[in-house]
Amino acid sequence: MSVLFEPVALGELQLANRIVMAPMTRSRALADAVPGSDMVEYYRQRAGAGLIVAEGTAPSASGLGYCRTPAIYNDEQIVGWRRVTEAVHAEGRRIVLQLMHVGRAASRHNKPVGAATVAPSALRARTQVFSDAAGLVDTDEPLALSLQGIGEVIEDYRQAALNARLAGFDWGRACTAPAVTCRCSSWPQAATGAAMPTAAT
Ligand SMILES: Cc1cc2nc3c(=O)[nH]c(=O)nc-3n(C[C@H](O)[C@H](O)[C@H](O)COP(=O)(O)O)c2cc1C
Repeated sequence: MSVLFEPVALGELQLANRIVMAPMTRSRALADAVPGSDMVEYYRQRAGAGLIVAEGTAPSASGLGYCRTPAIYNDEQIVGWRRVTEAVHAEGRRIVLQLMHVGRAASRHNKPVGAATVAPSALRARTQVFSDAAGLVDTDEPLALSLQGIGEVIEDYRQAALNARLAGFDWGRACTAPAVTCRCSSWPQAATGAAMPTAAT
């Protein structure tokens, strides 16, 4: 008999079944990269899976770059994500967040004004991205990150992991687009920092 629908422990997480939903960018965030009601409903509908890996989410304004994608660097975004995690938890399921800085695979049209497109080198990616403001556009020529800039990106990830905890996520996964700065890694709640803040209301 199939064990697909049987509970399983995944590290610290107890899952109701063995179905895991892969992260999928849906481009449904509101202005300012805030998760809205459409996203709450989208994830609630998919809470039959034992574990949902939520879509790639920017840890900073500069980490944005695709059209209408979410972020988790300010309070409004944290509150929006908290509505998502509460909807999934109400179904007895688990949800983790994928933190994703898109690096040079970005258009300034998809970022807040003044947010830079950055990468290890000032080399434009030979690709295009869609934007509401200008349609299909070439990606930006990125600014080359200094050593200090790389440290700032890492710090943005660290803070975003803490924000994900505040938003009620059960776990996190850090990821970058090709040619950014960090390799992929995953962490349980407990590993996101000794001084973990308590959950926000
Ligand atoms: C519409 C769409 C959006 C996606 N967005 C993401 C994403 O945000 N992060 C990511 O890591 N993978 C993303 N993916 C890749 C899926 O997670 C991937 O297709 C999934 O792991 C299934 O793998 P398979 O195609 O090898 O079966 C996306 C795929 C699709 C079709």
